[in-house]
Amino acid sequence: MDKILVTRSSMPSLDEYIEEIKDIWESHHLTNMGPKHNQLLAKLKEYLDVPNIELFTNGHMALELCIQAFDFMKGGEMITTPFTFSSTTHAIVRNGLKPVFCDINQEDYTIDVNKIEKLITNNTVAIIPVHVYGNICNIEEIDRIAKKYNLKVIYDAAHAFGERYKGQGVGNFGDASMFSFHATKVFNTIEGGAIAFNDGKFQKTLYNLKNFGIKNEEEVVYIGSNAKMNEFCAAMGICNLRHLSEEIGKRRLVYNKYVERLEKVKGIKLNRLRGDVEYNFAYFPIVVNSSEFGVDRNKVFDELKKCDIHSRKYFYPLISDYECYKVEYNSNETPIAKKISNEVLTLPMYADLQLDSVDKICDIILSLEK
Ligand SMILES: Cc1ncc(COP(=O)(O)O)c(C=O)c1O
Repeated sequence: MDKILVTRSSMPSLDEYIEEIKDIWESHHLTNMGPKHNQLLAKLKEYLDVPNIELFTNGHMALELCIQAFDFMKGGEMITTPFTFSSTTHAIVRNGLKPVFCDINQEDYTIDVNKIEKLITNNTVAIIPVHVYGNICNIEEIDRIAKKYNLKVIYDAAHAFGERYKGQGVGNFGDASMFSFHATKVFNTIEGGAIAFNDGKFQKTLYNLKNFGIKNEEEVVYIGSNAKMNEFCAAMGICNLRHLSEEIGKRRLVYNKYVERLEKVKGIKLNRLRGDVEYNFAYFPIVVNSSEFGVDRNKVFDELKKCDIHSRKYFYPLISDYECYKVEYNSNETPIAKKISNEVLTLPMYADLQLDSVDKICDIILSLEK
């Protein structure tokens, strides 16, 4: 059997992509918010069903510049979780702000809303929750807390592209949401990202920030960056968007197959899906309880790897245990995040993963059961 990676990028046929980029050869318009960028922007606004959206070169820069756009007081604190990708925390720190780590809940690994309020101080400016693995945070409770303490809410929705919560596009909640279009995501533009936001007044700020803060030929109004999505990436997005519902449908079959094989296994906890969310089936995390299952997460990872099946300890280590953060933080202060980080494994998940490969992966896992 061929090597199985944890993910595989979705791509259109070469012919479809070539057809899409022909216009670029004719126009010589390669970047700086060209026609493909604008076309993708309009399509995504509709697909995500959001009032405003800006595209960026990647999800990280989208988040970093979104935080900059709010112009928070220097040294302000942002409540977030350490159970995420490095980008979420880095975006806060690179803005001169301070991440304050809140624990996650055991059920869906999103921020534990019961632990947020006691972390709020006079310096708190925002909450940055993560819809981790596409699990939607407790939006109502986060909203209530944010209103009570006058805080902004910026969702890291990198994993939640296209999902809907109670019938609404997930990018409608909080003040803003960041989506990642990285090659490994459900929808990709090779590299890319977006901010969906509710207040239209941020449109110009976000637009200018991704283009060095340039307002017009003679005025530079912000210390911006270069984070523009180029035309080739936008063309990839236009093609991939055409096939998205089919791709998500295929992911759903993979997801269901895993559930069928693993849901009754003692010591393996699956991600529980809720009835009020339309999912994108981005990831398949399992949490391995070694005393019940017989072996631990690392053993499952190693045994799969011996068969050339590459799962991922995602997210391990916790951000608060990274070399660059551990001097200032103590990961024992977020015990649930620490525990899940030591027990979680995301299994291979992508649209073209064959169902007999899923069977093979599950056979290996089940052979380890005590
Ligand atoms: C939770 C999370 N936040 C942020 C990012 C950053 O996105 P990007 O890779 O598009 O910069 C990613 C993905 O890579 C992610 O998984």
